[in-house]
Amino acid sequence: MAAFCQAEKIRLVVIGPEAPLVDGLADSLRDAGIAVFGPSKAAAQLEGSKAFTKELCARHNIPTGAFHRVTSAAEGLAALASFTIPVVIKADGLAAGKGVTVAMSTADAEEAVNDIFSGRFGAAGAEAVIEEFLHGEEASFFAITDGHTIVPFGSAQDHKRVGDGDTGPNTGGMGAYSPARVLTPLLEGEAIERIIAPTVRAMAAEGMPYSGVLYAGLMLTPTGVQLIEYNARFGDPECQVLMLRLEDDLAELLLATAESRLATLPAPRLSDHTALTVVLAAQGYPGTPKAGGSIGGIAAAEVDGAKVFHAGTALKHGKLVASGGRVLNVTATGKSVSEAQTRAYAAVDLLDFPDGFCRRDIGWREVERERG
Ligand SMILES: Nc1ncnc2c1ncn2[C@@H]1O[C@H](COP(=O)(O)OP(=O)(O)OP(=O)(O)O)[C@@H](O)[C@H]1O
Ligand SMILES: [Mg+2]
Repeated sequence: MAAFCQAEKIRLVVIGPEAPLVDGLADSLRDAGIAVFGPSKAAAQLEGSKAFTKELCARHNIPTGAFHRVTSAAEGLAALASFTIPVVIKADGLAAGKGVTVAMSTADAEEAVNDIFSGRFGAAGAEAVIEEFLHGEEASFFAITDGHTIVPFGSAQDHKRVGDGDTGPNTGGMGAYSPARVLTPLLEGEAIERIIAPTVRAMAAEGMPYSGVLYAGLMLTPTGVQLIEYNARFGDPECQVLMLRLEDDLAELLLATAESRLATLPAPRLSDHTALTVVLAAQGYPGTPKAGGSIGGIAAAEVDGAKVFHAGTALKHGKLVASGGRVLNVTATGKSVSEAQTRAYAAVDLLDFPDGFCRRDIGWREVERERG
């Protein structure tokens, strides 16, 4: 990759997915003199190891649930005794969103522990973390940092379940909206001051400065904001809604971050409007999605400020077809969540994708709150 970038005179590389970040692609590129947006291998441990992040929080007094790090099934089963139900069990490493169990009974908790140490997750399951269950509403918060300067980059909430009313199996995300109004300016300030800033300072102090976007999964608990997890990248589909709100030049921002001169830029501006995205998935997702379904009507759907992002599409004999589970992200903005939702679904209805489906209630929490 580094040789390719040098040969092609690539000036900036933005690393999207978590696996190459955790594998250290950013380090290889930086060693070759190429500017990179994304954390080093050491810094990407914030996503790559649940135990790493929990221990960093413990060392630096960053609010998060109580935890126990374990390296065998026997140790894990014994550790369960010190937690109440529900309890959360996580494989330590990257598990493509499948390594976390929120156990509603002791039997489920024991099964989850045994499952991790059965070798199902390979190296990612060599260790596990048992965590206290946090009560509250979840919100995601994004910050861009070059290791020193931190700029807030908005919030979002997503819908993980495949079916309306948050039912059915988990997915990579069926829709999202930004901002998450539950994360009030006051709570956002608390998240920056007590979680984001101490993390960035701690990483620098421990010799692994974090550069890139830091995506904090937060729980808004009755006693304050707590960290659930970090991701070392923009989420999908959270990225799509953040991009529609960004009023500045994204490339400039990413390059300044990569070149450690974020302090020289004005803070990025995000519009006050809400952006909402609806994922169109292929029938069968999150199981085996039907491939090859024809897609039409994108130009028609993109009137009125809506934007259709391609996620799992391909061109076959010049025709657009589905080639993945999550196929399109139909995204729109509005003065309220209700307005953004209406516009996004109007665009969805202009698309012609007979083999696709979507949830019809993206944004429902906020829409209910807006109706009061
Ligand atoms: N301590 C906790 N208390 C309550 N719920 C939790 C806790 N930890 C995780 N969860 C729930 O499980 C989900 C997945 O956990 P987590 O974000 O750590 O896993 P992940 O596989 O890294 O997810 P992602 O794909 O979003 O990065 C969370 O979004 C949250 O709903
Ligand atoms: Mg994660």
